[in-house]
Amino acid sequence: MTRAVVVHQTGGPEALSVEDWPLASPGPGQVAIRQTAVGLNFIDTYQRSGLYPMQTPFVAGSEGAGVVTALGEGVTSLKLGDRVAYQGQIGAYADERLVVADRVVPIPDGVSDQTAAAIMLKGLTAFYLLFKTWPLAKDETILWHAAAGGVGQIATQWAKSLGATVIGTAGSDEKCDLAKAQGCDHVINYSTQDFAARVRELTGGRGVDVVYDGVGKSTFEKSLDCLRPRGLMVSFGNASGVVSIPDVTVLSRKGSLYVTRPTTAHYFQTRDELLEGAGKLFAAVTSGAIKVDVARTFPLAEAANAHRALEARETTGSVVLLP
Ligand SMILES: NC(=O)c1ccc[n+]([C@@H]2O[C@H](COP(=O)([O-])OP(=O)(O)OC[C@H]3O[C@@H](n4cnc5c(N)ncnc54)[C@H](OP(=O)(O)O)[C@@H]3O)[C@@H](O)[C@H]2O)c1
Repeated sequence: MTRAVVVHQTGGPEALSVEDWPLASPGPGQVAIRQTAVGLNFIDTYQRSGLYPMQTPFVAGSEGAGVVTALGEGVTSLKLGDRVAYQGQIGAYADERLVVADRVVPIPDGVSDQTAAAIMLKGLTAFYLLFKTWPLAKDETILWHAAAGGVGQIATQWAKSLGATVIGTAGSDEKCDLAKAQGCDHVINYSTQDFAARVRELTGGRGVDVVYDGVGKSTFEKSLDCLRPRGLMVSFGNASGVVSIPDVTVLSRKGSLYVTRPTTAHYFQTRDELLEGAGKLFAAVTSGAIKVDVARTFPLAEAANAHRALEARETTGSVVLLP
């Protein structure tokens, strides 16, 4: 058995129950990990609330880091004692767990377990959004919503290091200051300012090449007004609620725009894709291009409070749960 944070019935943060959970020996192609750090992500709240359907009961979370403690049959790429990290494998909120060996990566020297747990999902998301969804060029200008958040801080620093001009939004002046300190060229408090009007001003009326929007319902429509003709709207999350486009002609009216709604699962389907992304991410961290801000930690048993803080917009940067 291991201690885990389990959802039996989807709902609010109180649906997260700390209890003993069965832990089997690793099967073929699996390894057991003693976890040292677990990443908190907004998707954990969608799964807990039922927005993203899950089969219950399930152990929450999908990102973490730790030490390999047992190898299943056929695993040759890892050895006992290796420090590893992963994303996209449900069951992370636990002291110990099994993972598919092909879906974990070694943590390089110089990167702490907490940092690795903080960046596997958020940083790989930043990677595919900036390098694959739209290979960002240095003369381009982007708008990144929730720039002081987990994905936002990593992605805006990375975009800056690629030479792009970065406009970031955030919901308070304090968060705007943080986003500016992290390297955004311009920041907009979208709680108090009309961000579309401000983006037009900042771009001399042209609009940005790409909008990256993980906020969703409350920002989607106005974000279309921030784009240049034939620009790209990347709607990659729904922190404020799910987006729907009732009338697709809005895209022609607003400039023959492109829209995509991507997710990590489709960008990291093979081990090679995972290794390419993780390699670039760890290199960006060790070179200093991305400084990872583990702004807050919670004991694993306080996962419900961590969810409350994330959903109440109280957090900045990455939050890590400590088993
Ligand atoms: N598609 C993918 O592959 C993928 C992968 C990872 C993450 N994501 C998405 O990326 C987004 C960011 O994830 P994250 O884990 O790094 O979270 P986060 O950015 O640390 O937290 C979400 C932020 O959204 C902003 N927000 C605006 N309206 C909100 C509302 N009504 N309720 C809650 N937050 C609101 C808040 O910042 P302000 O206070 O500054 O507004 C909040 O801090 C999420 O939508 C997540 O689902 C998508």
